[in-house]
Amino acid sequence: MTPTKLLLLAKRASRYSYSPYSKFRVGAAILTESDKVYTGCNVENASYGLTICAERNAVFQMVAKAKERIVAVAIYTPTDAATAPCGACRQVINEFGPAARIISGCESNHRLDSPLDELLPHAFGPGNLL
Ligand code: THU
Repeated sequence: MTPTKLLLLAKRASRYSYSPYSKFRVGAAILTESDKVYTGCNVENASYGLTICAERNAVFQMVAKAKERIVAVAIYTPTDAATAPCGACRQVINEFGPAARIISGCESNHRLDSPLDELLPHAFGPGNLL
């Protein structure tokens, strides 16, 4: 699966975004170790703080189907410049793919592409518990 294809799947997932408050339609696509793809979109709520990002939605879709390891995450935002995932999503991705490749795309050709451990150095993860 190429980054371009994974980004296309993320863009497609953004169509399902429920974002009546921000009107910011985000999509994410996760590639797993067994070559499966899980997608998610952001889902907002009238109680704003309960909003869930596209990336975490995609991770939870994956966990609900299979406890897989994450190889790559593609994120699409409807912006001119690509945006990296928020801190909460970085932490949740870390649980299942500390070395995952994080690829962000947008409406232009601009892309961000970096390993999660660069976006979340010194991460706290399962190995840090007693
Ligand atoms: N959002 C995501 O889904 N992913 C991100 O990486 C950044 C922000 C969503 C949350 C909210 O629904 C909207 O975008 C505006 O912050």
